[in-house]
Amino acid sequence: MSIKNLYAHHMQEHYKNPKNKGLLKTPDISSLHHNPTCGDQVNIDAKVNNGVITEIKFSGDGCVISMATASILTEFCKGKTIKEIDKLEEHDVLNLIKMELGPARIKCAVLSLRAIQDGIKKYRDKNA
Ligand code: FES
Repeated sequence: MSIKNLYAHHMQEHYKNPKNKGLLKTPDISSLHHNPTCGDQVNIDAKVNNGVITEIKFSGDGCVISMATASILTEFCKGKTIKEIDKLEEHDVLNLIKMELGPARIKCAVLSLRAIQDGIKKYRDKNA
């Protein structure tokens, strides 16, 4: 299997058996974000303790890339500070999923990052 196919396979696995799928009962952060081009959406719920993400879940409907990335990204976010997550950019997400994507597909990959970062912004505004 080529490296490219290996990563595509890895994404398929996360799509079929996602990590952290679901909702939290009393999230500190809850944020829904959608891709205006296709209408796909992802919701992120998270618990924050002393600035650290202690629990995180996602739900939503979307393509393989958006849902697999949400699974991978939520795994990555556990135990990270909201400050660290806030600094993530597109290329960090692409590094995490180990794929090169064109502009349209990058929107799919960053859907969950935008949801988390919007949620962090609302959380900060509320707790300022
Ligand atoms: Fe809609 Fe990928 S096609 S998020």
